[in-house]
Amino acid sequence: MIASHDLLDQRHRPLHDLRISVTDRCNFRCTYCMPLDHYDWIEKREILTYEEIERLVRLSIPLGVQKVRLTGGEPLLRRDLDKLIQRLSQLEGLDELCLTTNGVLLGPDAEQLRHSGLRRVNVSLDTLDPDKFERITKKPNLPKVLEGLRAAQQAGLDPVKVNMVVERGVNDDEIVAMAQFCSEHGFALRYIEFMDVGNANAWNLDRVVTKKEILATLGSHFDLQPAGRHRSSDPATRFQVRGGGPDLGVIASVTEPFCDNCSRARITADGKFVTCLFSQDGTDLKRPLRDRTTDEDLGALLRLIWTGRTDAFSEDRLRAILSDHGYQPQDRHKIEMITLGG
Ligand code: GTP
Ligand code: 5AD
Ligand code: SF4
Ligand code: SF4
Repeated sequence: MIASHDLLDQRHRPLHDLRISVTDRCNFRCTYCMPLDHYDWIEKREILTYEEIERLVRLSIPLGVQKVRLTGGEPLLRRDLDKLIQRLSQLEGLDELCLTTNGVLLGPDAEQLRHSGLRRVNVSLDTLDPDKFERITKKPNLPKVLEGLRAAQQAGLDPVKVNMVVERGVNDDEIVAMAQFCSEHGFALRYIEFMDVGNANAWNLDRVVTKKEILATLGSHFDLQPAGRHRSSDPATRFQVRGGGPDLGVIASVTEPFCDNCSRARITADGKFVTCLFSQDGTDLKRPLRDRTTDEDLGALLRLIWTGRTDAFSEDRLRAILSDHGYQPQDRHKIEMITLGG
């Protein structure tokens, strides 16, 4: 819902969500995200402090921000993340504070995170096969992620959502098994179309398992009923299983773009404000933050960026895919997902 005080971009989209990357480091090397060992990592002194992040969130709330999602890289690699959560959870006007993680450190951390004010968590898990897990992530950590999911649930994080990036020939044979697994354990599940985020994941259209295909596979095992989006700006469209079953959803950025209602901005770990997941660059906020810029001027900068926003990359991509020329992902040098936080 758009409120009268909401700031609107050029397509009348409000700024309701901030996705904040707290580190670009990750202990996985997922094939679909960051398969490279050598990468231009952000230097430590360039990383925003918790005070700086809190200030940006505080200044964004009057512009319309209601939800903050902490991401990475792997956000739980950032020391004392619970302290940031504690700070943010005390800000008035924030309705939702969530985290997206690869789950490896949730086992030891879940209880503390919940205690600090985190309400829910999304965990990446693409397969239940340990060998395949290692092929995808380069780490033999499936048991730790499963333990993390259990710990999150036991700590009272609710819902615990599983994110499964579906890639043809890699894990599309596990679409039904993952639904059964999530149903059994009470996790929500989001199937995600493989996207051409960043430049390092060798994306091509043939490897995208479309929403239509995912639903066809599910449809042969479950009696599905469309349940729409939880909020109109959510990436996922949901499906209920008639007679009870897991909370299922599909994020179909490639074949059914949802740019029309996109209310998300991103902040990179080094303080770039980025208005689309597929942006080539962002606006530096670190310099003004560290140059003693006033709250008023910083707020004005955020307003200026958002009101000028026109991004709708997934719509542009679909148009290109359907055109005679096709879509060439390498024509555009995008910020890597690991820097941007997804
Ligand atoms: P909920 O708040 O639980 O709905 O989470 P979410 O789906 O918004 O966030 P999550 O970090 O779990 O991301 C799931 C998938 O959605 C990832 O692949 C994200 O990259 C993708 N995603 C999130 N926001 C956007 C977006 O604005 N555009 C596109 N194209 N993909 C997005
Ligand atoms: N396509 C779709 N989703 C991706 N993610 C990472 N890379 C990709 C990609 N190329 C997902 C991860 C994580 C979320 C933040 O983004 O699985 O759960
Ligand atoms: Fe994998 Fe997430 Fe790390 Fe990317 S940030 S390599 S998706 S665990
Ligand atoms: Fe938003 Fe860009 Fe994703 Fe479209 S492609 S939904 S504008 S982040």
